[in-house]
Parts: sequence; C-alpha cells; structure tokens
Amino acid sequence: MNVLLLGSGGREHAFAWKIAKSKKLKSLYIAPGNPGTASVGKNVNIGINDFEEIKKFCIAKEINMLVVGPEEPLVNGIYDFFAADDQLKNIAVIGASKAGAMLEGSKDFAKKFMQKYNIPTARHKTFTVENINSGFEFLETLNAPYVLKADGLAAGKGVVICENINEAKTVLAEMLNGKFGTASRKVVIEEFLKGIEVSMFVITDGISYKLLPEAKDYKRAGDGDKGANTGGMGAVSPVYFADSAFRQKVCSRIIEPTIAGLQAEKIDYQGFIFLGLMNDCGEPYVIEYNVRMGDPETEAVLPRLNADLLDLLEGAATKTLSSKKCATYAQAAVTVICASGGYPDSYEKGMEISGIETVDESIVFHAGTTVCNNRLQTSGGRVLAVTSLDDTVENALKKSYAGIAKIEFRDMYFRKDIGQDILNGKK
Ligand code: AMP
Ligand code: GLY
Repeated sequence: MNVLLLGSGGREHAFAWKIAKSKKLKSLYIAPGNPGTASVGKNVNIGINDFEEIKKFCIAKEINMLVVGPEEPLVNGIYDFFAADDQLKNIAVIGASKAGAMLEGSKDFAKKFMQKYNIPTARHKTFTVENINSGFEFLETLNAPYVLKADGLAAGKGVVICENINEAKTVLAEMLNGKFGTASRKVVIEEFLKGIEVSMFVITDGISYKLLPEAKDYKRAGDGDKGANTGGMGAVSPVYFADSAFRQKVCSRIIEPTIAGLQAEKIDYQGFIFLGLMNDCGEPYVIEYNVRMGDPETEAVLPRLNADLLDLLEGAATKTLSSKKCATYAQAAVTVICASGGYPDSYEKGMEISGIETVDESIVFHAGTTVCNNRLQTSGGRVLAVTSLDDTVENALKKSYAGIAKIEFRDMYFRKDIGQDILNGKK
C-alpha cells in the first residue's frame, strides 16, 4: 500500500514509525512531516489543509490510503473532499467525515449528541450573546468551580475553569464577546466533574471497533500539575484504574452508544475516536470527544499496540475491522516531553539539539524540530517526545529520564513527575 500521512508532530512521527513496520506498506509519505518522520518515510512539502495539492500528490504517487493525524483537515472536510472526487474516491481516508468531525469541532454538537444517546457526561447548557443573562442564571444554579467551553476549535485553549461565580460571569461575557474569536460565539457551560482523567482510544469502521491501550496525559506545564495548560507534557500507559471493569463500562455506556448514534445520524466514520474521560469512583464520564489520536498519548499508545497498524486501518476503511487482530503488549510505555523554555507561552526557536543519537534505550519522537544547515534545531514548543517501554511504569520512567539526561538544547525543560501519580495510586 502507498500511504500519505498528514501532520508534523510527535503523534505523526509515532504513526509513521508504526506504519513503517507494516508488512502491507510499499511507500510512506508524510506531509509535511518533520525530521523524525523523514527517518521512516519520505516528507513532502504540502500543507495539511492544501486539499488541491494533496489531491495532485495522491494521484501522482498512486496513494491508496490517506491517514489524517490532526483534526483540522477533518473539520475542514478532507474526507468529504476525497469522497466527492472521481479521481480520489477510491483512496481510503482514515478520519471522520466533516459531520463526524463535529464531535470535536463543536462542543455544543458533542454535548447534544451525548444527551440524545444517553452517554454519561457533565450536565450542560449552551449560550450565545443573545441569551447571556440566561447564562448568568445557569451559572447561579451550579457550584464552583465553573467550566466554560468555547464551542469551536480554539487551539486547545478554549476551556476556562473559574473558581468563583464573579470570575465565571466575567469570563462568559468575554468569551461571548470574542475572546476566542468565532470559536466562542457559542459557549457551553457545564458542571465540574470530579475524579481522575484518562484518555481512551478507539478505532472504528463505523460498525465495529477496537479499543486501543489507554493513557494518562499530563496537561500542565509544571510539576505537581501546576502552571499553564499545554498540549500535554507526558503520557503513561497503562493506567491502573482503567481495569477491565472500567473498560467494560466505557465500552457499553460510551463507545457502543457513540457508534450507534453515529449510525443513527447517518454519519460516516472510519478512523479514531479519542475519549477524554473522567473516572469518578469507577464511573466513566465523557469530558470531550476528539476525532484524532492524542498527542503525546499516541507516542505511548502505539508502541504498546501489538498489531499491524496498517492492517487495522485497512480494516477501518473497508468495514472489515471485526476480522482484524488487535492486541496490546504487556509492557508499560512512558513518554516525557522535552519542551522549549517559555512554552506554552512565547518561546524561542532555532536552538541546536544535541545528544539524540546517544539515546539507546528509548525512542525519541520528534515533535517540534527542523533541520537547518544540516543541524537539528528546535522549531516548536514541544520539541521531542522520549518514549520508553519496560516491564513496569517505574522502570520505563527511569529509561526516559536517563535518555533525556543525554539530550541538550538551550532552555530545554521537562516535567520531572510524569507517572508519579500512577506509581502512588497503585500503592
Ligand atoms: P477539553 O478541552 O474539553 O478536554 O478540556 C480541557 C481540560 O479541562 C480537560 O482535560 C479537563 O482537565 C478540564 N475539564 C473540561 N471539562 C471539565 C469538566 N466538566 N469537569 C472537570 N474538568 C473539566
Ligand atoms: N494530549 C491531549 C490532546 O491531544 O488533545
């Protein structure tokens, strides 16, 4: 199979790394990719939203499958673009249709969907500037903290959690008046859920599904979950409390009704569903849906996947997923992100990176790197994702931190407490 993968982060390096191992692969291209993906496939200088250039490339290179890493092209309708084009319609697209991508692209849509199909989630209401006063009244019916979410995509920054009612009212007014541009024209206000978060991942062909390994993400920039919200500073898999009883509840109460709901709504869906879940004393609630894999979760999840990923993706595209094999390695995986000083706020780019080649017990996925004058440099906030596998989370953590000790770039920082809660929780 000839495959084109869209994206350029650590998640896409992990995808490319795993796809490159497939017996079914002939050629792997990544658009635009990064120096890490270039080591397992061929990078192509095309933007992820440049559908016309993607089309030309797919025809020229006889691509059989398009794998979409990030949500944006899906929300912009790349699945539908391929389906509607005579020259492209026989190419399998792994990713939701535009209608399906609304599960991530509109929080209001996702909440209404969950309500309609009885999927457990926080109680909510949606407001616009026209009924802002009802929004203030709804806030009065909730207890602190208050959760306010921009309806649309806001680069991962659209959720604000307020500790008191006055702050919540101020933030609601700011959001409805354009704090996140058009994304916050509608705001979802919801009840605060207690518990511990876990990310679970599903691949579906729209009929059946496979559950991939779960992971815990570390969203805050600083140790002890302090500091600004980031895209994620590390990931650990497995997560002890996502045991078989919990997973069973997630399957029967969340995943199966979600797939049945997509079918009932006549929404095409062949790809990943990422469930951001809250575990409240063993009961799962959906915090959010994403129509892609998580980053950095993918860098911990795919190394644990004991299956030919391309074979699974083919199953998703041809509605034969139920006949495919999908198992998980028993080993634990841990990913620690090396970030640029200042991230997630402003940071400098162009710092020379050294030492990666000396890391021998971990996989170093590239997230925000570039090659300039034959030298590897930083080009993003999250620069590298250092993943290790071992029999225990504790030993995998040791390997990742030993690997990081060998890597250098100016102002590099990383969280030193990834996985500590998992180790403590198990005791
Ligand atoms: P989201 O972008 O929807 O994943 O929200 C970002 C983060 O906000 C989540 O990972 C949670 O940590 C937190 N969050 C969102 N919704 C809720 C909620 N209803 N209750 C508690 N925390 C929440
Ligand atoms: N790490 C969370 C996300 O990918 O949204």
